[in-house]
Amino acid sequence: METKLSSVIIGFGIMGRIRYHAMQRHGGYEIRAICDIRSEVREQMPDGLFVYSDWRTCIDEQEPKVVIVCAVNKMIPEIVCYALKRGCAVFSEKPPGRTLEDALKIQKVYNECGITLKFGFNHRYHNSVIEAKALLDSGLLGEAVCVRGVYGKAGNEHFAEEWRNNKEISGGGILLDQGIHMLDLMRYLLGSELYVKSGIVNNLVWKELETEDSAIALLETERHQIASIHSSVLQWRHKFDMDILCTNGYIALNGLLTNSKSYGEESITYYKKDLLAESGKLGRPKEHTMCFNEDFSWDKEMDEFYEAVTNQKPIVHGTMDDAVKTMQIVTDIYKLAEKKG
Ligand SMILES: NC(=O)c1ccc[n+]([C@@H]2O[C@H](COP(=O)([O-])OP(=O)(O)OC[C@H]3O[C@@H](n4cnc5c(N)ncnc54)[C@H](O)[C@@H]3O)[C@@H](O)[C@H]2O)c1
Repeated sequence: METKLSSVIIGFGIMGRIRYHAMQRHGGYEIRAICDIRSEVREQMPDGLFVYSDWRTCIDEQEPKVVIVCAVNKMIPEIVCYALKRGCAVFSEKPPGRTLEDALKIQKVYNECGITLKFGFNHRYHNSVIEAKALLDSGLLGEAVCVRGVYGKAGNEHFAEEWRNNKEISGGGILLDQGIHMLDLMRYLLGSELYVKSGIVNNLVWKELETEDSAIALLETERHQIASIHSSVLQWRHKFDMDILCTNGYIALNGLLTNSKSYGEESITYYKKDLLAESGKLGRPKEHTMCFNEDFSWDKEMDEFYEAVTNQKPIVHGTMDDAVKTMQIVTDIYKLAEKKG
């Protein structure tokens, strides 16, 4: 019989709800309680659950096997560390706090407790990314030598008031919020650690914000693979594009299937280099494209976590190490930009 994991969710905003539904679909989680500090959120909880406004009381009273942390960045380290120390397995949203120090604090407790901990680097579970990784691993296109990514969104009329732009709560702007996903993907797909060579972080339009609206960075691995990222709120639409240049071909990831459907259709296109123009079209090699219209990323993520907790399978994506390494990159980009400013 399938083990049901007694679970609580801390923070029931956008991500809390997404995780709740994925856990329900999975069937292996027994969600007992939800905690949120906002009364309007507590009033709209699904039926049959205990409802808390204080996360410590929620964890202490429920003594769950699993704690799902979907509160704001500022709260993540404290809640994650507390839950781990209480012997709970933890699934936490990214980023692992506001700073690298936060991530390292979590890492220390994690190392001491030796309990399952996974972070929500969700993009690795998107179909286009899974196909890209498989293509790279197959060797068909040779080795990945260069990757460039654009991750852009449009801030809405309330953007300036969002907690994401309150540095005290978020710790950083669009780079820490969204760019961190792309940096994680770049590390994953290149298969090497990235080091920051240069970076510019600025407020080009949203001048009143204390967090950046734009970040551009150049990075390199020890194997001299190159990466560039543009993370921006000035795209004025939602956009996700990644190009991967390989020794024998090319991969493009375009669009990302999200709940809002605003990043466009998700697709992967690849081609092999064709220097002899066997296709008859030098500069226009034969391309192969796959499009996806279903997003199973949240389900796959909750399944990996479930298997780790119940069957001691290793966490492959969103490990503590992934969390610290990507936080290191974000911190280095911020530091480099500060020095120049
Ligand atoms: N994995 C992803 O793809 C992804 C996407 C978006 C956001 N996130 C991350 O998820 C987290 C939440 O983001 P969101 O978009 O759901 O924000 P949100 O504002 O929609 O939800 C956050 C919720 O946490 C609650 N909260 C704040 N402090 C709390 C506390 N002390 N105790 C209990 N509840 C508290 C808020 O009231 C709110 O309801 C952030 O860390 C964010 O970076 C991850």
